[in-house]
Amino acid sequence: MPSARPDDPTPPERPSPPAGSAVFLWAALWAALVVLAKRVAPDGSEHSGLGQFIGRFHPLLVHGPVAFMVLVPLLELAGRRPGWSHLRAAAGWILVLTCAAAFLAAFDGWLLAWSGGYRGRDVTQHLWAGVLFSAACAAASLTRSRLPAAYPTLLAAALGLLIWTAHLGGSISHGDGFLTDTMPAGLRTVLGLPPAAVGPVAAGKSAKVPAPKAGLRSVNPDNPAFYSVHVEPLFQRSCVSCHRPEKHKGGLRMDSYEQLMKGGDDGPAVVPGNLKKSDLIRRVHLPSTDDDSMPSDGDKPLTPEEIQMVERWISAGAKGG
Ligand code: HEC
Repeated sequence: MPSARPDDPTPPERPSPPAGSAVFLWAALWAALVVLAKRVAPDGSEHSGLGQFIGRFHPLLVHGPVAFMVLVPLLELAGRRPGWSHLRAAAGWILVLTCAAAFLAAFDGWLLAWSGGYRGRDVTQHLWAGVLFSAACAAASLTRSRLPAAYPTLLAAALGLLIWTAHLGGSISHGDGFLTDTMPAGLRTVLGLPPAAVGPVAAGKSAKVPAPKAGLRSVNPDNPAFYSVHVEPLFQRSCVSCHRPEKHKGGLRMDSYEQLMKGGDDGPAVVPGNLKKSDLIRRVHLPSTDDDSMPSDGDKPLTPEEIQMVERWISAGAKGG
């Protein structure tokens, strides 16, 4: 291996290229990623301003592995046609690019989560899915010309892991039900999903929450309509993605007035007329670095004015329906 250097990320495309440096490079990168994910796991505290700045490129960088990865099987298949073999020759190089992009996105994703104060099961799963995807991608790349029998399986595994990783990431940024909320009923049945929650969930997720209009402000917090006009849209926007029928975190559902008033695992979330005893109010006031703070995982928090709106409603007896 005369020209191979340990930092050379592109093993040359030859029938049986030397493996050493590529194996070393991918293994070292992967080990570093695992150490970060395990030892320096995102803990919900914000750590570094610069880290956050760089980390916020993660949603941009993730497009790299997605775009490159889908090309690989396409090139492999198209390259089987007589006269199109040059496409197959390109697949190996594109796969190396995919791996490089995957590691870049994974490291930056870890940086975003660690420095930005992210935490929670969704974040952890997404992080480890990314770690596994990077490994599968590197394994596919290394076996492509050296172990052709294992290559298709590893490529398929990498593709599957990519879809899973991307789905988990999408759940973090768009809420759990972003794709399925508006899915036609027929398709839901085919996929074995429960029927869509009626009314407010679907409407609230897709419709923009209108800014309260001056006229509506006049609604008295004592009036049951205050809940549906002022309070419910806020919960729909910031809370229901996690507190919904499919995923009632903490045992709490916020997709309807009745469910909200049932409370969660720790008891009532809203105690009519009593702000101090309302766990929901305690949580929305906590700094986002606190483990109990809501909404967790980077969903749009309530503004101070919005919190006041919810407080007026609870103080006036938390009527609704
Ligand atoms: C990204 C997911 C997510 C979002 C968004 C979210 N929550 Fe939660 N919530 C959780 C998880 C996970 C728990 C359980 C863990 C805990 O107790 O911190 C929880 C628990 C709670 C509980 C305690 C339930 C109990 O009895 O244990 C309340 C109250 C609550 N959330 C209120 C809210 C409010 C209000 C919002 C919107 C402003 C919100 N949550 C948005 C994930 C979320």
